[in-house]
Amino acid sequence: MKTQSKADLIKENKRTRIFFNFASLVYPIIDMNLFPEYRRALKKLDLPKEWTVLDLASGTGILAGAFAERGHTVTGFDFAKRLQNRAKRRFPKVRFELFDLMDLNTLPESSYDLVSMGYFLHGVHPDFRLQVLQEARRISRKHVIVFDYCCPGNWFVRFIEWIEGPYYPNFVNGNRKDDFNSAGLSVNKEIHLSDFGNVWLLSPVLPKGS
Ligand SMILES: C[S@@+](CC[C@H](N)C(=O)[O-])C[C@H]1O[C@@H](n2cnc3c(N)ncnc32)[C@H](O)[C@@H]1O
Repeated sequence: MKTQSKADLIKENKRTRIFFNFASLVYPIIDMNLFPEYRRALKKLDLPKEWTVLDLASGTGILAGAFAERGHTVTGFDFAKRLQNRAKRRFPKVRFELFDLMDLNTLPESSYDLVSMGYFLHGVHPDFRLQVLQEARRISRKHVIVFDYCCPGNWFVRFIEWIEGPYYPNFVNGNRKDDFNSAGLSVNKEIHLSDFGNVWLLSPVLPKGS
């Protein structure tokens, strides 16, 4: 795949933001299916409640909200205002900010215990995927947690992803562990959650500071 320049990324992000603000209409259906999956996964992972969380691409806030329900202090970043307005109404305990993940390099190193992202990576160019994973590794003190596709979904999933953009086939046919390793992350735990979804608990390949 052709490399993505900064100008391409800016153009693409503008398109993505418009798409997701528009898609806010169908989000209640997606949330109904995903929210229980996030809750189940976090119960299984059972991470210490005092660990702070930065949820990237927080959308309607269901992953951030699932963390908050378990007692974590959570911040959610997303750039789609309509989705974020829903998130703020539904999960008042979470601090949501309008933020373009392209600017993650402005955040201090090791500023949150956990950095999470739910169904974000499959929708972006491999170069931006790598950039966000590298930044997540830098910003987290303990772990990066990724929820996303493990395997090709049914026709409905493929149709939705076809509308979202061109990167889903590259993502589902790629090797996740290679992506994580390229960003300096290794898989600590991998849990299969549904016919097409996984969660990966990741740690820095080398301890931070070495
Ligand atoms: C498929 S949705 C997932 C939302 C949420 N994590 C969930 O699991 O329901 C992808 C989200 O990524 C957000 N997003 C995509 N590119 C982004 C960027 N560059 N900066 C901030 N948010 C972004 C979109 O606005 C959207 O809310």
